[in-house]
Amino acid sequence: MEHLTGKVAFITGGASGIGLGMARAFLEEGMKVSLADWSDEHIARAKEQLAGNNAVHFVKTNVADRDSVRAAADETLEAFGKIHVLCNNAGVNGGGTAASPDFDDWDRVMAINLGGVVNGTKIIAPIIRKQGEGGHVVNTSSMAGVVPLPGLAAYSTAKYAVRGFSESLRMQLAKDGIGVSCLFPGATRTAIVPLPEDDPTIDEANAPQFLKDLWEAMRGAIDPFDTGKAVVSAIRENRFYIFTNREFLDEVKQRHREIEEAFPDDEPTPGRVRFESMRAEMVRNLMAPGNRPVPPPKDAPVDTGSASPAGGQ
Ligand SMILES: NC(=O)c1ccc[n+]([C@@H]2O[C@H](COP(=O)([O-])OP(=O)(O)OC[C@H]3O[C@@H](n4cnc5c(N)ncnc54)[C@H](O)[C@@H]3O)[C@@H](O)[C@H]2O)c1
Repeated sequence: MEHLTGKVAFITGGASGIGLGMARAFLEEGMKVSLADWSDEHIARAKEQLAGNNAVHFVKTNVADRDSVRAAADETLEAFGKIHVLCNNAGVNGGGTAASPDFDDWDRVMAINLGGVVNGTKIIAPIIRKQGEGGHVVNTSSMAGVVPLPGLAAYSTAKYAVRGFSESLRMQLAKDGIGVSCLFPGATRTAIVPLPEDDPTIDEANAPQFLKDLWEAMRGAIDPFDTGKAVVSAIRENRFYIFTNREFLDEVKQRHREIEEAFPDDEPTPGRVRFESMRAEMVRNLMAPGNRPVPPPKDAPVDTGSASPAGGQ
């Protein structure tokens, strides 16, 4: 989407942090923004920050509740008439460790961090599609969707899933002129990790050293407005991956090397080669209208065309 002026964005978790950073970047482009958020406190604070701007609409929404998301979409359409850009961004920290016996925290984090992205997409993407004017969907994953955060199993699981969901969505929406991006923030200075200076109830003096170190690190984290500007560029250029934190690059390269080295070195049968080339061709065709197809690697196996694929994926 090259022309953003006058377009309408619906941003979940839009009253704080990265969502609010996107909203401010979109407003700078002359867009209208509907900020859907669950927190009265964040909505009140964001209203103060954006006071006097009549291109902003606030709607109290719980992304884990489909009726609430439907109502927020309807309210946005009443306010602005259309929705062109959907940012499924609301998220919470937590989720416990992978082998701990509690399900409540697991269910809560999955319902918001993954369920919220699915609900927003299934309810609002059809609205964007029906308008027939193209559009863009931005789903917020995390660096924890590429290299996991220790101790936050549900969080990392949901963020990996957001990436998979977005890859699938990307292929589906390209033919309608709707781009898809997946945002992978690293440490960003937001309310997700409250600092003692933001929250007077925090007892900084008696906090464990780990938390003190974390707070110190977060004080130097990325400004969410810069993340918002990175999102604007990605929408304009129809880029899928949005990374903001270069400090993770070495670890990502290591992880990719580990994956590559785990492949067996046996020679695939022509049927297996055919299966993969058919899959890759389907992806290329689906993405041809609006996204950059991934070029085949120089040493890609030659498609012999001699056998059919062995079953579904
Ligand atoms: N800040 C970081 O370092 C960081 C890093 C990686 C990924 N992220 C992701 O970025 C996204 C935004 O987080 P942030 O850092 O800006 O945090 P934030 O707490 O400042 O903002 C998140 C907003 O989402 C809202 N929200 C939470 N649950 C909701 C629900 N059920 N329905 C509607 N709104 C809800 C909150 O009220 C809040 O206003 C999240 O998905 C988070 O996982 C953040």
